[in-house]
Amino acid sequence: MVGIYDETAPQPFPIATVMSWETPLTTPAGHIPMWAITGVSVAASHRRRGIARIMLEGELHAAKSAGFAVAGLTVTEATIYGRYGFMPAAPIQRYSVDTRRAAWGPYEPAARVVFVDRAQLARDLAELHESTREDRLGDIGAWDRRWQQIAGLTPESEKPREIRGVRALDPEGRLVGAMAFTIGEGADHASRVFQIGHLVTATNDARAALWRFALSYDLVGTVTAELQPLDEMLPLLVRDRRAITQTVRDHGWLRILDVPEALARRPLAGPLGVRVRVADPQGIADGAWTLLQLGGEGLQTAPIDDGERVHVEMDIGALSAAYLGAVRLEEFAAVGRVRGDHAKIRELSNALRTDRSPHLSIWY
Ligand SMILES: CC(C)(COP(=O)(O)OP(=O)(O)OC[C@H]1O[C@@H](n2cnc3c(N)ncnc32)[C@H](O)[C@@H]1OP(=O)(O)O)[C@@H](O)C(=O)NCCC(=O)NCCS
Repeated sequence: MVGIYDETAPQPFPIATVMSWETPLTTPAGHIPMWAITGVSVAASHRRRGIARIMLEGELHAAKSAGFAVAGLTVTEATIYGRYGFMPAAPIQRYSVDTRRAAWGPYEPAARVVFVDRAQLARDLAELHESTREDRLGDIGAWDRRWQQIAGLTPESEKPREIRGVRALDPEGRLVGAMAFTIGEGADHASRVFQIGHLVTATNDARAALWRFALSYDLVGTVTAELQPLDEMLPLLVRDRRAITQTVRDHGWLRILDVPEALARRPLAGPLGVRVRVADPQGIADGAWTLLQLGGEGLQTAPIDDGERVHVEMDIGALSAAYLGAVRLEEFAAVGRVRGDHAKIRELSNALRTDRSPHLSIWY
């Protein structure tokens, strides 16, 4: 935790804060250590003097010198962090389902759903998050207090008694899913909303079981869920997918700090032979490299000289956004942030492809 104090101001509080810690980030081959950043704040009395910039650039340099290849954060405003090389790399979608219209389809989940108390809910969420985290690209390690907050167990929780919890058990009785939810007030039953606070599952069947539980809940008209993956299965489970409104939004932002290390720490689909130059306004990760991967061997990266011709040029934000496969480099090429030989852009873009949508399932 970093606090910045103004010696001329007669107040005991810091005028700016930032926090950071090491956490595992799920990549296509397990996880890598990530420098997570949160709590960026500058007092209203001290804004627009460059204090946030000093703190964030300090964080990035500290992370780089500590050997981290990637930094990450979640944001309240999407306009602040692009200038430091961060870009959305793990988007999510918000669901709103008109339950009367949606109607459950033919799939019959085998898992059964039972209620749990809030303390058990927090334990179930923690256990399932940890055991399934490496199935969700871009997800990170969580901490007990996050689950206590979601389960309404912390003192600042506004209406803890309204938070309910269920767990899904497979036919052998194993814990395979957990869900925190509230039922919002409404003028009548049709306007009441079943709000999913958190949903985590170890199997597709458990996910279907918990969705069905929500969609078939009596006396509510709408089910909402935040932080769902882009490849969420729900539209395939209902009879009328137009009953579902999906809103896609940025969620997990990444910032590569060390290009060769970050690329070497996730498998790339090969063969690959691209000479790439990466520009970095903070001067942390810029450089030019030959990226070479022949069949069966890992990635070999060799620096190339400044004057040498490269196939592809891009900024560090574009590469960070494409790191988990959520965005293709061609999309950045269309807006001029990736330039060069089209075939080589496609080659590198294909190498970064992943078979699942990234899914950062919590705020941090
Ligand atoms: C957002 C916040 C941290 C910025 O702090 P600050 O010290 O005023 O920022 P700086 O003076 O260092 O500005 C750095 C750059 O960010 C820009 N910036 C600052 N606040 C911004 C905002 N809210 N939206 C867009 N850009 C912003 C500045 O224009 C400046 O741009 P430039 O260097 O490219 O010219 C501060 O206003 C704050 O604490 N806000 C409330 C809490 C918050 O929103 N935290 C962010 C959590 S994700």
